[in-house]
Amino acid sequence: RQFVSSRSYPSKILGVDYNKQISVLDTLKQQSQRPLTLTEKLLYSHLIIDGERNWCLGNIDRGKTILELRPDRIACHDATATMALLQFISAGLPHVMTPTTVHSDHLIISEKGAEADLQRAASEHAEVYDFLSSASKKYGIGFWKPGSGIIHTVTFENYAMPGGLIIGTDSHTPNAGGLGMLGIGVGGADAVDAMSGMPWELVAPKVIGVNLTGKLHGWASTKDIICKLAGILTVSGGKGSVIEFFGSGTQTLGATAMATICNMSAEIGSTSCIFPHSPSMDRYLVATGREYVAQAVNQVRDVLLTADEGSHNYYDCIIDIDLSTLEPHINGPFTPDLAHPISQIKSVVAANEWPIELSHAMVGSCTNSSYEDLDKCRQLVRQAKAAGAEKFKIPFLLTPGSEQVRATAEADGILDELRDAGAVVMSSSCGPCVGSWDRKDVDVKGKEKNSVISSFNRNFIGRHDSNPATHSFVTSPETVTAFAYAGRLDFDPLVDEITGFEAPFKLEPPANQELPAHFETGIDTFQEPPLDGSDLTIAIDPKSDRLQLLSPFQGWQEGNADDMEILIKVSGKCTTDHISPAGPWYKYRGHLENISSNMLTTATNAFLSKDPQLLGHTKHPLTGDVDVVPKVARDLKRQGLRWCIIGDNNYGEGSSREHAALEPRFLGGTAVIARSFARIHETNLKKQGMLPLTFNDPTAYDRIAERDRISLLGVEDGKLQPGHPVTMRVKSRDGSVWETQLNHSFHQGQLAWLRAGSALNHIKSKTMS
Ligand code: F3S
Repeated sequence: RQFVSSRSYPSKILGVDYNKQISVLDTLKQQSQRPLTLTEKLLYSHLIIDGERNWCLGNIDRGKTILELRPDRIACHDATATMALLQFISAGLPHVMTPTTVHSDHLIISEKGAEADLQRAASEHAEVYDFLSSASKKYGIGFWKPGSGIIHTVTFENYAMPGGLIIGTDSHTPNAGGLGMLGIGVGGADAVDAMSGMPWELVAPKVIGVNLTGKLHGWASTKDIICKLAGILTVSGGKGSVIEFFGSGTQTLGATAMATICNMSAEIGSTSCIFPHSPSMDRYLVATGREYVAQAVNQVRDVLLTADEGSHNYYDCIIDIDLSTLEPHINGPFTPDLAHPISQIKSVVAANEWPIELSHAMVGSCTNSSYEDLDKCRQLVRQAKAAGAEKFKIPFLLTPGSEQVRATAEADGILDELRDAGAVVMSSSCGPCVGSWDRKDVDVKGKEKNSVISSFNRNFIGRHDSNPATHSFVTSPETVTAFAYAGRLDFDPLVDEITGFEAPFKLEPPANQELPAHFETGIDTFQEPPLDGSDLTIAIDPKSDRLQLLSPFQGWQEGNADDMEILIKVSGKCTTDHISPAGPWYKYRGHLENISSNMLTTATNAFLSKDPQLLGHTKHPLTGDVDVVPKVARDLKRQGLRWCIIGDNNYGEGSSREHAALEPRFLGGTAVIARSFARIHETNLKKQGMLPLTFNDPTAYDRIAERDRISLLGVEDGKLQPGHPVTMRVKSRDGSVWETQLNHSFHQGQLAWLRAGSALNHIKSKTMS
């Protein structure tokens, strides 16, 4: 067992074992010498090979084969860690079997500025932080206290290393790809598998190659690469695939800039995103005190950290992007794949009548809050000041990515210069990016229409402030800063002058300052676990409304899927933010009963009108009364009635939050039947003992009517088999009956989860036996 912290490095580098990885690749290649993509090298070199599992390249079928992997590490943030640790406690093991860290970043509400907000968090979330801290100590987990920074930034600074495999309970875990580490977002239940030493399962992904040529110039930045790619691939185009960059352009980018791209690859639904080794990775490793990693990396660069020559023929598709001609992009509102090259922003804003006056500019989030990002903002502030613009025209919020970035930017004077221009520096945490924003400048409750621009990654409806009328646009930090002076959405910094100050002026694009002269480490906010925490206890107040020990779900009962009522027929986009909204609900992330009251409360119901007041409502299938979805679900559960959800395309896209699967299970749901699912959510539903099924004929979705009842044929023990469809029988209230075929993606091992009632029940039964 190995404990890993940022401050003391064990001999085997942070748990990554290059020799073992190379030996696994050698084994795989015994029967086939075909060249491997970088994705394949990194993923397959983490396969578990033992007496029962014999892998060779020939038996891995992308999109189909379930890989059994051993990740090098796990990261959880405070909003997902509570539930993951509660589940780990239920599994009854003495300590984690894979190096794990917990990061306190999501719960801190942005309001007044770093100091006051951290004090508020310490008092409002004391119970949760105490739980996370004590459970981390007991189970051998590194705990990053509030103020440490955002999970992916802290991971990047301390643990990411070329060739490794990290899973994280957050969909932006691919961020690590900027340092050549494969990062994959998972649900808490998957993390618990890996914490428990069980194999972690993943369907062998396809590989989308993105060929970068040329060199960025002018206002174009790495953010624009991923914004453009989102426009090409859409929010579901990367599903089941790893985005693998290659080409000469990859060698021109800094490590944190590449992390921006990998981070936001979550917005195209991809499994992960990776860059080949480049000198900038070594520079970053050295700058963050990991010279010894850079040295080790250079010994395995060709064999492990770059794609084999000729492997490009094995990409499932290739997309070409010429960096030299790339335009800056602004994506949004309401979806990150609505990509607008800056030259078109004026016309689309006018055509769509989006609010032109900007209400807020925000720089931060795990996507764009590196030293390089903040330095670019400073350069523009200096230019504006020289031109007579002392202050931004609109409120400007800044969240540094980590304590290290904050301390360095503070020492270099960046933060003071931004403060002088009017920026409010928040704590190093997620803040408005995740809805932890106590917003006062617009009437959020009154759904006041407004536009905000940020360097974040995600802009789904209500994401930042729970206001469905906030139009959120994402772009690069430098473009955000230029817009903070323009104050308007119909602005193009390439051609437009900024007016309203002493005299009109134009901003020149900032230069790239990849790294500071020296990184400050700042305040030590890391809690290292003791070597043996077995005597420690974890107290949970039974009266707490924040934390609740989990009771195991009941195993599958015959007839579970007979005569199910339809709780809601979801229409259109339904992300995990719609299924389990964030913002004020964060506080209940460790209390399943309480948080279940948010289930689907921002989803659109196809059985009701599109009136915004009816979002999250449904008709009670027995009484016909219209009420909020969770209330109707609780009533059906109380009456012992089974129910299911009908979903649309890419149901459950967005973040990896397992609450979106736990809640319907807790409230008595049996199945979610959708046109298609986002990968992580589909797996999460299976982990919680639910049945995710897809229409073989997508038009069958349209035939489902109000108050129909649904039975699933062929789902009982022994009948449900991998690769075999099931039949859905629909009974209308007028007595008519029709049937259609549904598909599922359960493999044999996952069927055991369904039968046991959850994956956790299954793990427990295996550890007890
Ligand atoms: Fe946090 Fe937003 Fe990243 S929620 S982890 S800063 S995407």
